Amino acid sequence: MTIAPTAPPSPAATAQSAANHAANPAPAQCTAVVGLQWGDEGKGKVVDLITPGYDAIVRYNGGANAGHSVVVKGERHALHLVPSGIMHAGKLAIIANGVVVDPEVVLREIDGLEAKGVSTAGLIISDRAHVVFPYHKAEDELREHVLSQARSAGPGSSVSSASKAIGTTKRGIGPAYADKAHRATAVRMGDLLRPDVLEKKIELACAIKNALIQGLGSAAGTASDKQYTARQMMDWATPLAQRLAPRVKDTTYLLHDMLADRKRLLFEGANAALLDVDHGTHPFVTSSSTTVLGIPSGTGVPGSRIGEVVGVMKAYSTRVGNGPLPTELMNEIGSRIRERGREYGTTTGRPRRVGWLDLVAVRYSAMLNGATALAVMLLDVLAGLDELNICTAYSLRGKRVDRFPADADELDQAKPVYTTVPGFGEDITGVRRRSDLPEGARAYVDLIEQAVGVPVGLISVGPDREQTIRV
Ligand code: GDP
Ligand code: IMO
Ligand code: MG
Repeated sequence: MTIAPTAPPSPAATAQSAANHAANPAPAQCTAVVGLQWGDEGKGKVVDLITPGYDAIVRYNGGANAGHSVVVKGERHALHLVPSGIMHAGKLAIIANGVVVDPEVVLREIDGLEAKGVSTAGLIISDRAHVVFPYHKAEDELREHVLSQARSAGPGSSVSSASKAIGTTKRGIGPAYADKAHRATAVRMGDLLRPDVLEKKIELACAIKNALIQGLGSAAGTASDKQYTARQMMDWATPLAQRLAPRVKDTTYLLHDMLADRKRLLFEGANAALLDVDHGTHPFVTSSSTTVLGIPSGTGVPGSRIGEVVGVMKAYSTRVGNGPLPTELMNEIGSRIRERGREYGTTTGRPRRVGWLDLVAVRYSAMLNGATALAVMLLDVLAGLDELNICTAYSLRGKRVDRFPADADELDQAKPVYTTVPGFGEDITGVRRRSDLPEGARAYVDLIEQAVGVPVGLISVGPDREQTIRV
C-alpha cells in the first residue's frame, strides 16, 4: 500500500479500468484521511501531501475546534475550517453540511490566506452547514464553568473524582450541534442569505438562549447578565453573510456531480476517532462523527464510494482536554516529548497531555475506520530515548484485555501492559527511505504494522512536506 499523490485517471484509463474492474480494481475515487487517536495526529500534513491527486478536499465534521497545520518550506499555516488542500492552487475546498461554521473564523482564515498569497477562490460552503453564533460560544464557556464546579468524589476513579468539565475548545461546537438536533433554534448557512427567515429564527433562538444563559450563569454563580437581541445578532450576521454569500452552495449535488464526472474527492477528518461522539471516550469527546462513518451524513456521499482510508497516528499519544489517557506520562519523558514535538494546541495553545503509543486504542480506531493504510507521524520526536514503551494490552481488574472499553471510567482504570523496545539515538529528520531508518525506528514501525494489521504507507520524520518517507 502506498500513499502517493496520484494523477487523476485519463478517460481512456478510466474506460479500461472499468472494463477490467473485476480482475483489477481501479484506484479509489474517494479517499478519507482520519485521525486514529485523540486529535492532532498530523492530518493537515497528510492531506496537504496527497492533495495533488484529488480535485476537491472536503471537510465533513467538526468546526473551528480543529487546528490543522501545514508547513511549507519552513512556513507554518494553521487551518481551522478551511480544508488543508487549499494550499494547492486549482482545487475545490469544500466545507460540507456536517461542519458547524463560525462565519467570523472562516472569514478571518480567508483573509489570512489571501494576505499570504494563497488563493481561496475554490472555497465553497454548504448551504446545509450549521452556523455557530456568539451565544453558542457563551453557552460552551458557561457549561464548562458549571461542570468544572461539579466534582464528585467517586471511589477509585480519577475520572469520577476529577472535574466534570470536558475541557472543550470553547468554540461553541457542542451548543451548535445541540441546536442542530433541537432544530427550531438552529440556523444554517442558507438561512443567512434570507434575511426575513433569518430574523424569525434568530428571534426564537435569542429568547431561548437568553433564558438558558441566565440559568447557566446562576448555576455557575457568575450571574451572567449577558443577553442577546435579534437586532444585535442580525447586525453581526448580515455583513458576514454578504461576504460569504458567493461561496454558499448546495454541496451535496456538487459532490455528486463531481463523482459523475469521475473527479476524485479527498475527505479530511477533523478531531479523531477517540473523540467521536458515539465511539470515543464519551463524555470526554467532541459533538460530531469524526470517523469515516461521519462522511455519508456529513457530505451526502454514500460510504460505499470511499475506497481508501488513511489512518493518521502519532508515534506516541497526545490528548488535549480532560478524559482518560491510559499511557499518560507525567514525568521527565513526557515533558521531553512535549517539547520536542511542540505539543501545544494549534487552536487553543494548551499544552497537550503526552503518553506512550497505545496500540489497543489505535487497533480499535483502525477497525472503526476500516483503515487501508497507516500514516505514522512524528517518529523523529522519539529519537534519543533509550527505550520505548508500546501499550499492547490493558490490565483491567487483574485481567488482561486487548479491546478498548466503551466506558470512560473503565478506561481510566485500565493499566497499560507494555512491550519495551530499544530506542534509536540518531536524528532521523533527513531519512527519506524506510530501509534507511536506524534499526530501532524500523523495528518500531514494523511492530505497529503487525499489531494493527494495516500496512504503513507513509512515515513522517518532521513537520515539513519534504520530511516524509513514502513507503
Ligand atoms: P492535525 O490536527 O491532525 O492536523 O495536527 P496538528 O497540526 O494539530 O498537530 C500536528 C503537529 O505536528 C503540527 O505542529 C505539525 O506541524 C507537526 N508535525 C506533523 N508531522 C510531524 C512530524 O513528522 N514530526 C514533527 N516533529 N512534527 C510534525
Ligand atoms: P484536530 O482536528 C485535539 C477536544 C477538546 C476537548 C474535546 C471537546 O486539530 O485534531 P470541543 O471544543 O470539540 O467541544 O472539545 O475535544 N478536541 C480536540 N483535541 N484536536 C482536535 O482537532 C480537537 N477537537 C476537539 O480538546 O477535549
Ligand atoms: Mg490539530
